[in-house]
Amino acid sequence: MCGIVGYVGSASSAPILIDGLRRLEYRGYDSAGLAVHGSRAIEVRRAVGKLRNLEAALAERPLDGHVGIGHTRWATHGRPSEVNAHPHVAGPIAVVHNGIIENHLELRRRLVAAGCTIASDTDTELVAHLVHLEVERGKDLESAVRAALGEVRGAYAIAVLSSREPDRIVVAKASSPLVVGLGDGENFCASDIPALLPYTKRMLFLEDGEMAVIEAGAVQVTTIAGKPVERAPRVIDWSPVMAEKAGYKHFMLKEIFEQPRALEDTLRGRLDRENGDIHGHEIGLSDADARAIDRVVLLACGTSHHAALAGRYFIEALAKVSTSVEIASEFRGRDAVIRPGDLVIAVSQSGETLDTLIAAKEAKAKGAKVLSIVNVIDSAIPRMSDATFYTHAGPEIGVASTKCFSTQVANLLMFSIWLGRRRDTLSPARAAELVEGLARLPQTMKDVLSGTRQLVANLARRYVDARDVLFLGRGLSFPIALEGALKLKEISYVHAEGYAAGEMKHGPIALIDNRVPVFVLLPKDSHHERSLSNLQEAKAREAIVIGIATEGDEQARTVSDDLVEVPDIAEELTPFLTVLPLQLYAYYVADFKGTDVDQPRNLAKTVTVE
Ligand code: F6R
Repeated sequence: MCGIVGYVGSASSAPILIDGLRRLEYRGYDSAGLAVHGSRAIEVRRAVGKLRNLEAALAERPLDGHVGIGHTRWATHGRPSEVNAHPHVAGPIAVVHNGIIENHLELRRRLVAAGCTIASDTDTELVAHLVHLEVERGKDLESAVRAALGEVRGAYAIAVLSSREPDRIVVAKASSPLVVGLGDGENFCASDIPALLPYTKRMLFLEDGEMAVIEAGAVQVTTIAGKPVERAPRVIDWSPVMAEKAGYKHFMLKEIFEQPRALEDTLRGRLDRENGDIHGHEIGLSDADARAIDRVVLLACGTSHHAALAGRYFIEALAKVSTSVEIASEFRGRDAVIRPGDLVIAVSQSGETLDTLIAAKEAKAKGAKVLSIVNVIDSAIPRMSDATFYTHAGPEIGVASTKCFSTQVANLLMFSIWLGRRRDTLSPARAAELVEGLARLPQTMKDVLSGTRQLVANLARRYVDARDVLFLGRGLSFPIALEGALKLKEISYVHAEGYAAGEMKHGPIALIDNRVPVFVLLPKDSHHERSLSNLQEAKAREAIVIGIATEGDEQARTVSDDLVEVPDIAEELTPFLTVLPLQLYAYYVADFKGTDVDQPRNLAKTVTVE
């Protein structure tokens, strides 16, 4: 989730681009760069790390020019380094890009075969070379970008300069955000509204499959196929702070609603819908390795541990490999048995959690192969792992993890499908069903979020003063119960417990009385009947029962005081839907209580202490 920005006008472009990038830093910040039309050629400055490093580079070697593009990077392909930082240059062309090019391997092979020298590990540089080749064939910049994009599959918002046409920027969009800002004798582009608000409030929003030629006095929008588009500008009256959160009150709420997009980006290029399989080259195991795995050990902390618990269900059910899940700090504390045939999977949003890092290192020292599932590219855990299957949720700013949880669960499910196919424990037909279900999931999640938001906010208002809250679930709903309780605890400071629903009768049921809201997760799955009995047990002790159930479940409706419905979906996909109302519930309780939702007390986003 990078940020891009562009300027065409009569002012000096570099300060405007830097200012825009600073307002986009929340989208990612491992490196940054600018390309500006100088007096004769395009000049580029790039730097690793925070924007101030780029500013220092500019102070040493300033850039002077009225047309330029800038980028702040959140790495997806290639580690954070100066050579991987944008803009990427090929001949007279400079490109900045936000998104993921799916067919990058194939494009790289073709470009190398065509004689291109590719300097970076990025997918973006390939776009620069494709445009350059088209320019060499005699096309102007607009036609060259159009032709190049014909070869690209995936998500992108790009801004392109050519030293042969120094009065313009060509931009294009597919799935990644891009907005054009309209000024007086100057025009702009950016990934997001906040970058442009100090300069203009008149914005043109490009749709997927559209591009624009931006000059100081005119902006022309067309489809990438070349059809003219008439688009009226909109006037944005957000304050800059509101804009950074896309109009949401908190980053956490924004990130909850970003989950469909985060899922889409994480699934992109990995679902093999033709063969009902997963493209698994990032998993770093051969088919023979996959068949030889004796045992899987998942290591993680906090929310990532809950994702790992869901992962165990997937791996055992789909790939029939014995799997254990370890809280990383506890794994470290004892001399756990790890054998060379074991595959250890370290799950971490930040990739820097010290307990997980040390536990993974210990396992590796004992001979296990380490695969990691991490969101922050090239962080400490990927660096020590044998392979990393990244989630592509983009930077998560709210301390309470939401979108990273969903994408971790998605990667664990994809891994399990991949493994099950290689071990012949998962039929092609069932795998195809799951792959199709995953492909449809972002839209279903969008529907659940919009369909349940108000209802859940009302529940939060009603039960905001409850001192204790319980969350119950069986099977795949058990980790979701744990996650619902953790979310509520950490941001609203309400005492909450998640329990395996079948454990209630062994003790915790004593906690229940008519002041305790009990969330019972009972989607229509193989545990449904027994979960319904647990709901009835709670009800019989006068609990306030809130059912999270499948649409049309009349039994759940009859016994619940309140009911939140989610669509009917394959059992393996239920966690993606049932977690959403629980995240929203925690959010609204915290918001009504007035706690610091994005930075709850005593918590840090990345825990690098033991
Ligand atoms: C809870 C939360 C934490 C993290 C935990 C592990 O909302 O965010 O429990 O899940 O600190 O962090 P990572 O995933 O970065 O290893």
